[in-house]
Amino acid sequence: MNEQKQNLSVFIILILLFTVHTYTVYTSGTENINSTRMNTSAIKGKALWQKNNCTSCHQIYGLGGYLGPDLTNVYSRYGDGVKSFLNAGIESMPVYSFSDKEQQDLLEFFKSLNESGFYPNKDVEKTWYGNIKIRDKTR
Ligand code: HEC
Repeated sequence: MNEQKQNLSVFIILILLFTVHTYTVYTSGTENINSTRMNTSAIKGKALWQKNNCTSCHQIYGLGGYLGPDLTNVYSRYGDGVKSFLNAGIESMPVYSFSDKEQQDLLEFFKSLNESGFYPNKDVEKTWYGNIKIRDKTR
């Protein structure tokens, strides 16, 4: 084989490796991306969350105001007991008067948030091909 042909085959091999690597990085870990869906009640709860600007004091996945705690996994902490906080006016949280139905909707919202993942999430693993695997609730 002359030198030019050798260079060409090395070049083609590199292109192939690059293609396989790119394909792997962009397609692995995306299988369960839509596995958390909100039911109608949770969607109403999200609307209440937005309308009442809860995020001015609370964070979801670390984003939001810092007067109250992060609520991403509040459902894991208290389960249905989350409802007892909503109208209680604890500390500097305003006294709301959510109906039973609205409390249930907010609870469903927190439930689906909780199913979507962990925060803070420090359980991160690097794969040999350079991707990052974080602990999630879908597998
Ligand atoms: C003015 C700021 C403020 C707003 C607005 C606010 N909260 Fe709070 N919230 C707080 C504070 C402060 C606490 C008490 C934290 C504690 O006791 O440790 C709290 C506690 C909570 C808790 C209990 C969390 C825990 O882990 O103890 C829940 C659930 C909650 N709020 C939900 C909501 C919802 C839903 C809304 C919107 C409808 C809302 N909050 C709006 C400040 C606020």
